[in-house]
Amino acid sequence: MAGTMASLSCSWILILTFTLMGMLLNTHVDAQDNRKTYIVYMGNHDQSGDAPKSVLHMSMLQKAIGRERAAGALLHSFKRSINGFVVNINEEEVEKIAAMEGVVSVFLNGKKQLHTTRSWDFVGFPQQVNRATAESDIIIGVLDSGIWPESSSFNASGFGPPPTKWKGACYNITCNNKIIGAKYYRSSKIFGKDDIISPVDSDGHGTHTASTVAGGLVNSASLYGLGMGTARGGVPSARIAVYKICWSDGCHDADILAAFDDAIADGVDIISLSVGDDTPRHYFNDSIAIGAFHAMRYGILTSNSAGNSGPNLATITNFSPWSLSVAASTIDRKFLTKVQLGNNLVFEGVTINTFDLNSNQYPIVYGGDVPNILKGYNRSISRICLEDSLDQNLVKGKIVLCDGFVGAKKVGFASGAAGIVMHSDGAKDTGYSFALPASYIYTQDADNIYGYMTSTKNPTATILKSTDDNNTFAPFVASFSSRGPNPVTLDILKPDIAAPGVDIVAAWSPNAPPSGVKGDNRQVQYNIISGTSMACPHATGLAAYIKSFHPTWSPAAIKSAIMTTATPMRSDLNPDAEFAYGAGHINPIKAVNPGLVYDASESDYVNFLCGQSYSTRLLQIVTGDNSSCVGVTDGNVWDLNYPSFAVSTTSAVSFARVFTRTVTNVGSPKSLYKATVAAPTGLEVQVIPPTLSFNSIGQKLSFKVSVSGSIGSTIASASLVWDDGSYQVRSPITVFLVQ
Ligand SMILES: *[C@@H]1O[C@H](CO)[C@@H](O)[C@H](O)[C@H]1NC(C)=O
Ligand SMILES: *[C@@H]1O[C@H](CO)[C@@H](O)[C@H](O)[C@H]1NC(C)=O
Ligand SMILES: *[C@@H]1O[C@H](CO)[C@@H](O)[C@H](O)[C@H]1NC(C)=O
Ligand SMILES: *[C@@H]1O[C@H](CO)[C@@H](O)[C@H](O)[C@H]1NC(C)=O
Ligand SMILES: *[C@@H]1O[C@H](CO)[C@@H](O)[C@H](O)[C@H]1NC(C)=O
Ligand SMILES: *[C@@H]1O[C@H](CO)[C@@H](O)[C@H](O)[C@H]1NC(C)=O
Repeated sequence: MAGTMASLSCSWILILTFTLMGMLLNTHVDAQDNRKTYIVYMGNHDQSGDAPKSVLHMSMLQKAIGRERAAGALLHSFKRSINGFVVNINEEEVEKIAAMEGVVSVFLNGKKQLHTTRSWDFVGFPQQVNRATAESDIIIGVLDSGIWPESSSFNASGFGPPPTKWKGACYNITCNNKIIGAKYYRSSKIFGKDDIISPVDSDGHGTHTASTVAGGLVNSASLYGLGMGTARGGVPSARIAVYKICWSDGCHDADILAAFDDAIADGVDIISLSVGDDTPRHYFNDSIAIGAFHAMRYGILTSNSAGNSGPNLATITNFSPWSLSVAASTIDRKFLTKVQLGNNLVFEGVTINTFDLNSNQYPIVYGGDVPNILKGYNRSISRICLEDSLDQNLVKGKIVLCDGFVGAKKVGFASGAAGIVMHSDGAKDTGYSFALPASYIYTQDADNIYGYMTSTKNPTATILKSTDDNNTFAPFVASFSSRGPNPVTLDILKPDIAAPGVDIVAAWSPNAPPSGVKGDNRQVQYNIISGTSMACPHATGLAAYIKSFHPTWSPAAIKSAIMTTATPMRSDLNPDAEFAYGAGHINPIKAVNPGLVYDASESDYVNFLCGQSYSTRLLQIVTGDNSSCVGVTDGNVWDLNYPSFAVSTTSAVSFARVFTRTVTNVGSPKSLYKATVAAPTGLEVQVIPPTLSFNSIGQKLSFKVSVSGSIGSTIASASLVWDDGSYQVRSPITVFLVQ
């Protein structure tokens, strides 16, 4: 079977190995006066003036808080395309600095989290697809946990030297013509025990995402035979520039912003960032939104993971309109893990289980019956099998039945058990890896197992190695994938798009255990993980593919091409509809030829920000030019030239909204497009004019969409398709009730 591409986006939080303990290390709290690390964001880097920015930042700091306090407080100065600095100060001083001229925002140096092989085939993007020779000129900036440079996926054989536009370099590792840049960022200078102080990946995540975007073809890639196929990235000829920003304790804003600053100046074409906050932040209080804004100004699209905090609504954390927000969907493959009892009954669970117990039967016990009393645990804890809560003497060599589902890290080695069986009625769309044989089954099946255990004197069970199975309902959005609506700007639909992010096979770092559990000594070249972290690099790969055919397209045009050609997804499988999948499921072949694009430039976003009541003063600092909100008439959120439409309303029966949009012809010079609207009963959508007649490539035509009427539920999905007979340019229209 052909390629299996790995996309790692499953509940990464569960899988990932960030130790809580190390967390506080980086925020550098001075006990005496509560200094914390803040980022002072000062907008565009102004190239004028002779003094280096760090000198200016220092003198500014001295002015604000005095010489004595300023000494040693300045940790880092951004100096390439972003202006600002990282500083150690207390809350009182934050206010002083925030009040200074030129300061856009001051925010805490918060910590974000990192949010293979069949997936590209599944989205209809086979190995033999038509490719542009310019693909090898495309440089992908991957901001992540670093890279395992020796992976076969990054073999540089056959690659020429980097494109001449490349200004970056490699530090602390030897690069080749595939990995052309590598650098690490750690403003705190404090490292955890497991951190490798170089761009080398000690986590696996960065290797996985980079190879999903741009890994070369590697045959017979698998995790112990699971997901066997050809591992490959979306753009195997593209180059990779690595910016390591994530460490064993997470990914800090100061490092994210410093990496953006470098990546933009180095000359990357697309930025891939599978990292996010737990809570939403306003645009200029968020290092990713700020970085993506500056990248956009330089023609660089930032592709972001939506987050792994689903399925609740409004959990998305990367939602700036100038970036692409990617949800995670399933592919038509899943991994089943069978549990077989001594009485031969078999139950199917879902995990990634590479362990083979050779069908040997083991005694099975219930976690609640074997608490580690000496350590102070009782049955109410041991029933969920938290590491250490089980009595080693009572579980050694046995399979333990556990209530609920806890992450791999929390289960650990389950006190030396031979295996564990977990259960819940929750979603089982994603396979998780453990450090011991494990299966995750439905509660009713667990009840049956429990019944068997109480009905016989010596109950036994075994857990089989996982097998590949067909996920017939795919694609649907994984339950962990963060949902819209956009928590800051309700009327910009987010996420934008869905891409494979469940059970993705891709390259891995042998420095990192495949389960994320310390002490799991398996070393693997390819691993299967899930998360919007894995979906994001699929969208990044597609963006790079589009760019290789259309090198001059703006970030907004590339994003539009991805969104308007997406395959609509089924709302019966995804009750949250567009809040789960945005415009739908990526369709790479169509996306290179979208017919029309909804383009937008920096000034469109500036107008939008004016409409969001950001001041002229602030926007001039951000842009470094004479941008002004005075006289801006199209600053309404409904007039941002976005490829989707969102209407938030407080009344299900009375709303009316008019959107203005402009499309640019990138299809056939002479073409006549007709508007086709699909809308549920009660919802009225009018398009004026209903036809658009183009005479040349690059021609722009505007239209209005009015949405009114009533909706019968909290969310109603409609769509607008511009169709000229050969191109169908589709936008979702989502109306939703805000309680
Ligand atoms: C940005 O962060 C600062 C510091 O944490 C906070 O005081 C401010 O209210 C935030 N601004 C917005 C718009 O959320
Ligand atoms: C890279 O590819 C070349 C040519 O196919 C091969 O000879 C070489 O062994 C590969 N190197 C690695 C590390 O896989
Ligand atoms: C990595 O390279 C940079 C630049 O050459 C150097 O300053 C730094 O000390 C190196 N780090 C390590 C851990 O070797
Ligand atoms: C079991 O332990 C938990 C946590 O220590 C405690 O809150 C609970 O009261 C205990 N239950 C019993 C029945 O002792
Ligand atoms: C999985 O099942 C679906 C629906 O029956 C089918 O269309 C698809 O080709 C199957 N995929 C594989 C890999 O067998
Ligand atoms: C901004 O406006 C001033 C005064 O009108 C003008 O001198 C300057 O060149 C303008 N700057 C830019 C970047 O347009």
